[in-house]
Amino acid sequence: MSGPLWCVVPAAGRGTRVGGDIPKQYLPLAGRPLILHTLERLAAHPQVAGLMVVLGSADDQWPGTTTLSGKPVLTCLGGTERCDSVLAGLRALPPEVTDEAFVLVHDAARPCVRERDIARLIELGILAGGGLLGAPLRDTLKRAGGDGRSHETEPRDHRWRAFTPQMFRRGELSAALLAASLAGVTVSDEAMAMERAGFAPLLVEGAEDNIKVTTATDFALAEFLLPRTK
Ligand code: C5P
Repeated sequence: MSGPLWCVVPAAGRGTRVGGDIPKQYLPLAGRPLILHTLERLAAHPQVAGLMVVLGSADDQWPGTTTLSGKPVLTCLGGTERCDSVLAGLRALPPEVTDEAFVLVHDAARPCVRERDIARLIELGILAGGGLLGAPLRDTLKRAGGDGRSHETEPRDHRWRAFTPQMFRRGELSAALLAASLAGVTVSDEAMAMERAGFAPLLVEGAEDNIKVTTATDFALAEFLLPRTK
């Protein structure tokens, strides 16, 4: 087993699609803000050393949490895109986190991540030099035209959905995110930045109920899943 890892939690999205002016990470899930469920689950994990939560500049909802499960919870300011926020979080990590150290990145909006999936990602990902949780695509994938009709069926073989956490070395991930940013490419996850930099992140199959809460329906589903995904 590795030593405990720091986790960067991007939470700087405005995410107001669900309704109202409050970003989705602060909307109530089972009576408490969504983000608190995610942070508590991460902090309770024996292999997590501390959390770096990346907040939006207009955030007036952050409860000011400084420790969870006896572990430090630090905050920093995010950027325009998720990848900018993750890079800001990596830069703000304490100096004890070396460039060689592996760091987890986990979306604030994924409260149902399972302890055993985090443990498997860490165990297998460290051996592989970095990796991510995901699951093979099970539905048939269609290419839509501007007319709203299906024009082509994409091959499903070798296609995976990418989840978080994703885990990479602090230095390599920071360099990959910076390179993408300088090239004007908005990467949609850490693995995409690493792929651009020539790495091949390990795909670690995780539970598909590690959903990213986005819509009102997702809130109801996450409330159902929370006690069942411990
Ligand atoms: O918008 P989406 O659900 O894809 O965002 C995934 C995660 O990234 C969320 O936790 C969101 O708060 C975060 N994010 C961020 N900075 C941004 C955009 C999104 O930290 N600029």
